[in-house]
Amino acid sequence: MPKPEKHIFICLNSRPPGHPKGSCTLTGAQAVLTEFAEQLENRELKGRFRLTRTSCLGPCEAGPIVLVYPESVMYGGVQAGDVSDIIDGHLLGDRPVERLRVPVDVW
Ligand code: FES
Repeated sequence: MPKPEKHIFICLNSRPPGHPKGSCTLTGAQAVLTEFAEQLENRELKGRFRLTRTSCLGPCEAGPIVLVYPESVMYGGVQAGDVSDIIDGHLLGDRPVERLRVPVDVW
């Protein structure tokens, strides 16, 4: 398996409804993962970019959280409708999507 150009981590941690920390699953992370997987497949990009589901990445209140390496850019509040912007802007264009980045005091 070749080394990917970028690696996308998506938090799929789950906590019960009403938990004070919330969780990315409760705010839509599964739909984000599904959209990434479908777009990478349909656009024949799976060989270039690796997708991995993770447990909690830390800033639960800012979720759903998506983390992209090697740039270590953390996105927050990501929804399925944002996935095209991340693929086109960051993965293919090397321009992180500024409107989705978590505040600097978070990451
Ligand atoms: S539950 Fe996703 S960052 Fe903590």
